[in-house]
Amino acid sequence: MKRILVTGGAGFIGANFVHYLIEHSDAHLTVLDSLTYAGNLASLQGIPGPRLTVAIGDITDAPLVDELVATSDAVVHFAAESHNDNSLFDPRPFLDTNVVGTYTLLEAVRRHETRFHHISTDEVYGDLELDDPNRFTDTTPYNPSSPYSATKAASDMLVRAWVRSFGVRATISNCSNNYGPYQHVEKFIPRQITNILAGVRPKLYGAGANVRDWIHVEDHSSAVWEILNRGTVGRTYLIGADGEKSNREVLQSILGLMGQDPEAFDTVTDRPGHDLRYGIDASVLRTELGWRPAHRDLSAGLGQTISWYRQNAWWWEGAKAGTEQRYLLQEAAHA
Ligand code: NAD
Ligand code: DAU
Repeated sequence: MKRILVTGGAGFIGANFVHYLIEHSDAHLTVLDSLTYAGNLASLQGIPGPRLTVAIGDITDAPLVDELVATSDAVVHFAAESHNDNSLFDPRPFLDTNVVGTYTLLEAVRRHETRFHHISTDEVYGDLELDDPNRFTDTTPYNPSSPYSATKAASDMLVRAWVRSFGVRATISNCSNNYGPYQHVEKFIPRQITNILAGVRPKLYGAGANVRDWIHVEDHSSAVWEILNRGTVGRTYLIGADGEKSNREVLQSILGLMGQDPEAFDTVTDRPGHDLRYGIDASVLRTELGWRPAHRDLSAGLGQTISWYRQNAWWWEGAKAGTEQRYLLQEAAHA
């Protein structure tokens, strides 16, 4: 695979994937990204010019998508509207990008018989009780809760239909919550780190009992690269690193690592329909492809992430005030 098209490559996970492939492959990468509020070309700084082409455009633009797919050996599809809170406020862009955008890409890879990997989320499976001994597997029924997760579920179904009906050579991965560098300050971990750096008390939704299954973004990249190269076409792979923690535990780790009082946070109105717990069983990925996460210590990973945000304020400061303004408007709308 010499020419890889990465949609959403200026976003958090897409940009980390591009950096990962620069280091771990000799592929030429083309990023297709419309640079929404979540896209930032600064996340691609430092990548050698000959290895990267950037196309600024929309994945719903069929002629543009067709032209880029025609000259690619594989497509890795990260582009999405990705934030649950935004989807509760204005679902429309989620339908356009996550559903119509995925359809547009599928039609192009069908025409050009191009290998396709679809990036999806564990949220398509809904949530688990805190004491449920089972975790999500590729046979767990779909049961999405938010407009975001419903549109990701719809996109997964489109991919499965295009594989079965048209023989598209696609794989799907459903990953748990990522953390690491270049994550937008609207998301839980960077929002709290940058609040503390700005002298503002972190904000915990509800009682903070909700559990997320954290994985370092570099491990997500290595898993996707394995699946793209060695995965079975038509298969769905769940990606996770056994990282379940409550939001309160994660926040208190961050506060401790940043030398703050562990109780120095505010509890705020809960997210409507807030999923209680996600938990991934990644044993198929481990046994079939031999994949292992490199980052197994969440506290160490959080420490590195905190250092990254401390040292790269230039990257996030411009987005911080607007993001917090958006949260205030969303809170008022839900009140
Ligand atoms: P992000 O919001 O940080 O980045 C999304 C990128 O897509 C941005 O660069 C944005 O400009 C681009 N984009 C949005 N709409 C577009 C359009 N119509 N055309 C072209 N580009 C467009 O998202 P992320 O957190 O990096 O998530 C990437 C993918 O991974 C998504 O598909 C998401 O569902 C999935 N995912 C995320 C997580 C997580 O923890 N963040 C976990 C599992 C799966
Ligand atoms: O599980 C994978 C999903 O993880 C991805 O599909 C999504 O794209 C990604 O955004 C993420 O979804 P979450 O809703 O779990 O992530 P978020 O960072 O928004 O919130 C994580 C948890 O923290 C969630 O339980 C809500 C809570 N939270 C969030 C924010 C922003 C807070 O308590 N306070 C906050 O300020």
